[in-house]
Amino acid sequence: MLSSLPLFLVASIVSHAFANPTPPAPRGLSINLQRRIVSRSVDDLGAWAKSHREGLMAKYGGSPSSKTRRSTGTNLLTNQGADSSFFGSIALGTPAVSFNVVLDTGSADLWVAGNTCTKGCSTVATFNPSGSSTYKNSSTPFQITYGSGSAAGALASDTVQMAGFSVASQVFAVCDVVNNVLTDPVSGLLGLGFKGIASSGATPFWQTLATGSTWDSPLMAFQLTRFVNQSNTQSLEAGGSFTMGFVNNSLFTGDIEYINIPSEAANSYWILPITAITVQGNSISPGTGRETFAAIDTGTTLVGGPAQEIASIYAQIPGSSLGTGQFEGYYLYPCDTSVTVALSFGGRSWTVSPADFQVQQVSRGTCLGGFFALTTGDSAPSWIVGDTFLKNVYSVFRFNPASIGFASLSDASLAMNGNVDLQAPSATIGSVSAAATAGTSGLKPNSATPLDLRASSLIFTIAATLIWVVQSNL
Ligand SMILES: *[C@@H]1O[C@H](CO)[C@@H](O)[C@H](O)[C@H]1NC(C)=O
Ligand SMILES: *[C@@H]1O[C@H](CO)[C@@H](O)[C@H](O)[C@H]1NC(C)=O
Ligand SMILES: *[C@@H]1O[C@H](CO)[C@@H](O)[C@H](O)[C@H]1NC(C)=O
Repeated sequence: MLSSLPLFLVASIVSHAFANPTPPAPRGLSINLQRRIVSRSVDDLGAWAKSHREGLMAKYGGSPSSKTRRSTGTNLLTNQGADSSFFGSIALGTPAVSFNVVLDTGSADLWVAGNTCTKGCSTVATFNPSGSSTYKNSSTPFQITYGSGSAAGALASDTVQMAGFSVASQVFAVCDVVNNVLTDPVSGLLGLGFKGIASSGATPFWQTLATGSTWDSPLMAFQLTRFVNQSNTQSLEAGGSFTMGFVNNSLFTGDIEYINIPSEAANSYWILPITAITVQGNSISPGTGRETFAAIDTGTTLVGGPAQEIASIYAQIPGSSLGTGQFEGYYLYPCDTSVTVALSFGGRSWTVSPADFQVQQVSRGTCLGGFFALTTGDSAPSWIVGDTFLKNVYSVFRFNPASIGFASLSDASLAMNGNVDLQAPSATIGSVSAAATAGTSGLKPNSATPLDLRASSLIFTIAATLIWVVQSNL
């Protein structure tokens, strides 16, 4: 019940802002490498058996992929601030040190706060370059801007590990000024978008693995938990999982429906066109042409879209009204209305739970809705589909063929929602099962940014706002 929530409620509304010539910055998930000692599930055993067999075949030359060791990996996620963001962990340097990072499919740079950080990092763990024998400073300045903050520092390269994968000479940024971005225990952000939007110009960690044939299957997948409607939610809860190189069949049911990324949107964000929207069973127009393009973004908390279409959604909700002040662009509606919105991307219709639509009570009987109006740059996607939607599906980000897949959550996934008895994972360093080396040509900032995205540079403000609502009125 909302009335039993603490005095201060966090309604985190995500956003990304893109300013030229430095792009995105979002929010994410963190990862965690855990070694399980006892009680292997059938899945774990299957994964072990597969990797054991393929490892042996590679060692003895019996495998067609004997030069590259293929593998899979899972990171357990943490749900921070009642679904405000989802983070996992990576390990940096030699010897490896682990850090929590937001996992963000809506940007493509990796950055962490450095130990010389002078602003905005006082409460978070920071990376110490002098502690790593493989660290190289490229002396190239780096900056990223968000709707509500920014991070700046210098590009460097070092070994990066996650979920059992290791990439040598990965370019990332060590930041010394971080404004309004990091909340303890998160130290940075891992971009999982395509190289074309990397402000560093470097090939993203995941893309090196995808192109280097280190993965069994060329894809990554997310299962995200819901705690937003749970009254006794702690600031950190079990967040679900992020996998690389495979989909975990225990976490979804039925088929995964893959929809191809439009060719004109290649090498940028993970984009799909929204082809249909229904609210309370009634159809709403998603717009036309490029206006229907949506970035599928794990680093954004809510769902943003064009003002006209968002207004059409709330027109179906009696008693709703446009917010003002801090809530500009947002809508308020009667908390006792159960709102069901469904989105389709060319195939099935995927329903957003009324529990996710209801972000937060803001005054007696009045709640903040999870869909809000925003304006993006001309060539950036008009819609940003974040965790409000993604908590309702198993989502797969497939490199080749470039597509995004959704499937229904399994009972095992659903059982994690609101389960405060589950432990949030802690950042750990796993053992490496497959390794790759990043390309060496990575240090030309923006060299790979598609022209149309660069042109749009100015204003992809998707709104990164952290709103603290004082519940004076309950
Ligand atoms: C797949 O998901 C199940 C259910 O959460 C989990 O127990 C299992 O360890 C996962 N398998 C792998 C290989 O990550
Ligand atoms: C990297 O090089 C830049 C430019 O020379 C410098 O400002 C920065 O302090 C260096 N960073 C580290 C961690 O050595
Ligand atoms: C949260 O929402 C889910 C899905 O609608 C529902 O099953 C669950 O009962 C809700 N939990 C609470 C505590 O209201």
